[in-house]
Amino acid sequence: MKIAVGSDHAGVEFKKTVVSWLEANGYEANDMGPYTEESVDYPDFARKVAFAVANGECDQGILLCGTGIGVSISANKVKGIRAALACNPEFATLARQHNNANVLCLSARFSDKATIEETLKNWFATDFEGGRHEKRVNKIEPCC
Ligand code: RB5
Repeated sequence: MKIAVGSDHAGVEFKKTVVSWLEANGYEANDMGPYTEESVDYPDFARKVAFAVANGECDQGILLCGTGIGVSISANKVKGIRAALACNPEFATLARQHNNANVLCLSARFSDKATIEETLKNWFATDFEGGRHEKRVNKIEPCC
Protein backbone atom coordinates (compact mmCIF):
# COMPACT_ATOMS: atom_id res chain seq x y z
CA MET A 1 0.00 0.00 0.00
CA LYS A 2 1.40 3.39 -1.01
CA ILE A 3 0.78 6.30 1.36
CA ALA A 4 1.27 9.98 0.47
CA VAL A 5 2.58 11.97 3.44
CA GLY A 6 2.83 15.75 3.81
CA SER A 7 2.79 18.53 6.36
CA ASP A 8 3.63 22.15 6.91
CA HIS A 9 6.65 23.38 8.92
CA ALA A 10 4.88 22.62 12.22
CA GLY A 11 4.42 18.99 11.22
CA VAL A 12 7.87 18.25 9.75
CA GLU A 13 9.25 16.61 12.88
CA PHE A 14 6.29 14.27 13.46
CA LYS A 15 6.17 13.58 9.71
CA LYS A 16 9.46 11.69 10.27
CA THR A 17 7.70 9.62 12.95
CA VAL A 18 4.88 8.86 10.51
CA VAL A 19 7.24 7.87 7.67
CA SER A 20 9.29 5.62 10.00
CA TRP A 21 6.16 3.98 11.35
CA LEU A 22 4.84 3.34 7.84
CA GLU A 23 8.10 1.83 6.64
CA ALA A 24 8.47 -0.32 9.75
CA ASN A 25 4.96 -1.66 9.19
CA GLY A 26 5.32 -2.58 5.53
CA TYR A 27 3.79 0.48 3.85
CA GLU A 28 5.46 2.50 1.10
CA ALA A 29 5.69 6.15 2.18
CA ASN A 30 5.76 8.86 -0.47
CA ASP A 31 7.04 11.88 1.50
CA MET A 32 5.78 14.92 -0.42
CA GLY A 33 7.47 17.45 1.85
CA PRO A 34 8.38 19.87 3.18
CA TYR A 35 11.82 18.66 4.24
CA THR A 36 12.92 21.55 6.49
CA GLU A 37 11.24 23.64 9.18
CA GLU A 38 11.26 26.75 7.01
CA SER A 39 7.81 28.33 7.08
CA VAL A 40 5.46 27.11 4.33
CA ASP A 41 1.73 27.27 3.63
CA TYR A 42 -0.21 24.14 4.62
CA PRO A 43 -2.67 24.26 1.67
CA ASP A 44 0.19 23.68 -0.79
CA PHE A 45 1.20 20.38 0.80
CA ALA A 46 -2.34 19.29 1.65
CA ARG A 47 -3.22 19.70 -2.04
CA LYS A 48 -0.21 17.63 -3.17
CA VAL A 49 -1.21 14.74 -0.91
CA ALA A 50 -4.91 15.04 -1.74
CA PHE A 51 -4.21 15.04 -5.49
CA ALA A 52 -1.99 11.96 -5.17
CA VAL A 53 -4.84 10.09 -3.44
CA ALA A 54 -7.59 11.44 -5.71
CA ASN A 55 -5.74 10.48 -8.90
CA GLY A 56 -4.84 7.01 -7.62
CA GLU A 57 -1.09 7.55 -7.45
CA CYS A 58 -1.31 6.70 -3.73
CA ASP A 59 -3.86 4.59 -1.85
CA GLN A 60 -4.26 6.89 1.16
CA GLY A 61 -2.76 10.07 2.59
CA ILE A 62 -1.50 11.37 5.91
CA LEU A 63 -1.18 15.08 6.65
CA LEU A 64 0.09 17.03 9.64
CA CYS A 65 0.04 20.69 10.65
CA GLY A 66 0.01 22.46 14.01
CA THR A 67 -3.60 21.62 14.80
CA GLY A 68 -4.39 19.32 11.86
CA ILE A 69 -7.28 21.66 11.08
CA GLY A 70 -5.69 23.60 8.21
CA VAL A 71 -4.60 20.49 6.31
CA SER A 72 -7.98 18.82 6.78
CA ILE A 73 -9.94 21.83 5.51
CA SER A 74 -7.58 22.09 2.52
CA ALA A 75 -7.56 18.39 1.60
CA ASN A 76 -11.34 18.22 1.76
CA LYS A 77 -11.56 20.76 -1.08
CA VAL A 78 -10.31 18.09 -3.48
CA LYS A 79 -13.04 15.96 -5.08
CA GLY A 80 -13.01 12.39 -3.81
CA ILE A 81 -11.11 13.22 -0.62
CA ARG A 82 -12.54 12.43 2.79
CA ALA A 83 -9.95 13.84 5.16
CA ALA A 84 -10.49 13.26 8.87
CA LEU A 85 -8.76 15.02 11.72
CA ALA A 86 -8.05 12.35 14.35
CA CYS A 87 -7.11 13.79 17.74
CA ASN A 88 -6.87 10.33 19.29
CA PRO A 89 -6.72 6.68 18.16
CA GLU A 90 -10.48 6.17 18.58
CA PHE A 91 -11.22 8.96 16.09
CA ALA A 92 -9.02 7.15 13.54
CA THR A 93 -10.95 3.91 13.99
CA LEU A 94 -14.30 5.66 13.56
CA ALA A 95 -13.11 7.75 10.60
CA ARG A 96 -12.28 4.51 8.76
CA GLN A 97 -15.29 2.49 9.99
CA HIS A 98 -18.02 5.07 9.49
CA ASN A 99 -16.65 7.67 7.06
CA ASN A 100 -14.34 5.61 4.84
CA ALA A 101 -11.85 8.46 5.29
CA ASN A 102 -8.94 8.27 2.87
CA VAL A 103 -6.71 10.99 4.35
CA LEU A 104 -5.71 10.99 8.01
CA CYS A 105 -4.94 14.43 9.48
CA LEU A 106 -2.88 14.73 12.64
CA SER A 107 -2.04 17.54 15.00
CA ALA A 108 1.68 18.07 15.58
CA ARG A 109 1.27 20.62 18.37
CA PHE A 110 -1.45 18.92 20.41
CA SER A 111 -0.25 15.34 20.22
CA ASP A 112 2.74 13.20 21.12
CA LYS A 113 4.72 10.42 19.46
CA ALA A 114 2.94 7.58 21.29
CA THR A 115 -0.52 8.93 20.44
CA ILE A 116 0.44 9.43 16.81
CA GLU A 117 1.74 5.86 16.56
CA GLU A 118 -1.40 4.44 18.21
CA THR A 119 -3.55 6.55 15.89
CA LEU A 120 -1.71 5.15 12.85
CA LYS A 121 -2.10 1.63 14.22
CA ASN A 122 -5.87 2.01 14.53
CA TRP A 123 -6.21 3.72 11.16
CA PHE A 124 -4.50 0.91 9.27
CA ALA A 125 -6.14 -1.84 11.31
CA THR A 126 -9.64 -0.68 10.42
CA ASP A 127 -11.74 -1.13 7.28
CA PHE A 128 -14.86 0.72 6.19
CA GLU A 129 -17.92 -0.96 7.66
CA GLY A 130 -20.19 -0.20 4.69
CA GLY A 131 -23.85 -1.04 5.33
CA ARG A 132 -25.80 1.93 6.66
CA HIS A 133 -22.69 4.11 6.39
CA GLU A 134 -22.33 3.55 2.65
CA LYS A 135 -25.34 5.60 1.58
CA ARG A 136 -24.28 8.44 3.88
CA VAL A 137 -20.74 8.50 2.55
CA ASN A 138 -22.14 8.47 -1.00
CA LYS A 139 -24.05 11.66 -0.16
CA ILE A 140 -20.82 13.55 0.56
CA GLU A 141 -20.45 15.51 -2.66
CA PRO A 142 -19.51 19.06 -3.59
CA CYS A 143 -22.87 20.86 -3.85
CA CYS A 144 -22.28 24.44 -4.92
C1 RB5 B 1 1.12 27.29 11.39
O1 RB5 B 1 1.60 28.15 12.35
C2 RB5 B 1 -0.27 26.80 11.78
O2 RB5 B 1 -1.20 27.79 11.53
C3 RB5 B 1 -0.59 25.54 11.03
O3 RB5 B 1 0.36 24.56 11.31
C4 RB5 B 1 -1.92 24.87 11.31
O4 RB5 B 1 -2.14 24.68 12.67
C5 RB5 B 1 -3.10 25.42 10.63
O5 RB5 B 1 -4.21 24.93 10.72
